[in-house]
Amino acid sequence: MYKIPAKTLFMGKNLVFVPDCHSTNTLALQISHQSSAIEGTLIITDYQTAGKGQRGNVWEAEPGMNLTFSLILKPNFLAINKQFFLNIVICLALKDYLKDKTTDIIYIKWPNDILVHEKKISGVLIENQLQGSKIINSIVGIGLNINQKHFNSFSATSLANLTDSVFDLAVELPILLGFIESRYLQLRKGKYEMLMNGYLEALFRRHEKHTFSHDDNLFEGIIQDLDPSGKLRIKMKDEIRSFGIKEIKYIV
Ligand code: BTN
Repeated sequence: MYKIPAKTLFMGKNLVFVPDCHSTNTLALQISHQSSAIEGTLIITDYQTAGKGQRGNVWEAEPGMNLTFSLILKPNFLAINKQFFLNIVICLALKDYLKDKTTDIIYIKWPNDILVHEKKISGVLIENQLQGSKIINSIVGIGLNINQKHFNSFSATSLANLTDSVFDLAVELPILLGFIESRYLQLRKGKYEMLMNGYLEALFRRHEKHTFSHDDNLFEGIIQDLDPSGKLRIKMKDEIRSFGIKEIKYIV
């Protein structure tokens, strides 16, 4: 049902569809070791039995209703200390895609959740394989809720819920791939400042006072921006501190 996208240069040109699998990220990781794994190889499924989320969570999606896929990228031009820019690229591409579908405001919740009306519509799991100072393979896993109407979690939503429409996944996939490729090419061209600014403009709860937890301690702080490695910089009482993904939770 999925067709090779006509308009991209390389994103999705090598397309692998499997009706079901444990996780497209796991499958993509295996495929990435084969010589046929050209950049932009896409692994897509209708049903993951063990979809992986961030922080060891499970990604659940109703079979055949959403886009669940992984891309193999080979960003060997990107310094390891800039690897967070891959997250930025993918989040911005998802935002670009969604902006064309709805007038609702799209936020990026650091590090890489896409939210609309404070509900998650998409999640991203990027797994990089490093060798020396290079990123040899980046497995970019994307779950984008399209047609699913009901979720176990109150804090999830879909494009169908936002628009009251039904979408053809095979039509939507190449559109999204086009946005991903454009943003990725911006990264290749070294447009770091532009990408970072775009990400910060969409950053959820930026410049607002909220409660976070760190090491089981609650504190109030105001999100400022990101440090060069992609850590979240939060202004606390008298100082600004940077937090990595496992070091902080959003509370209220
Ligand atoms: C998160 O928000 O926790 C990240 C979710 C990422 C889910 C996608 S679905 C396709 C790809 N394969 C996986 O096993 N996970 C990612």
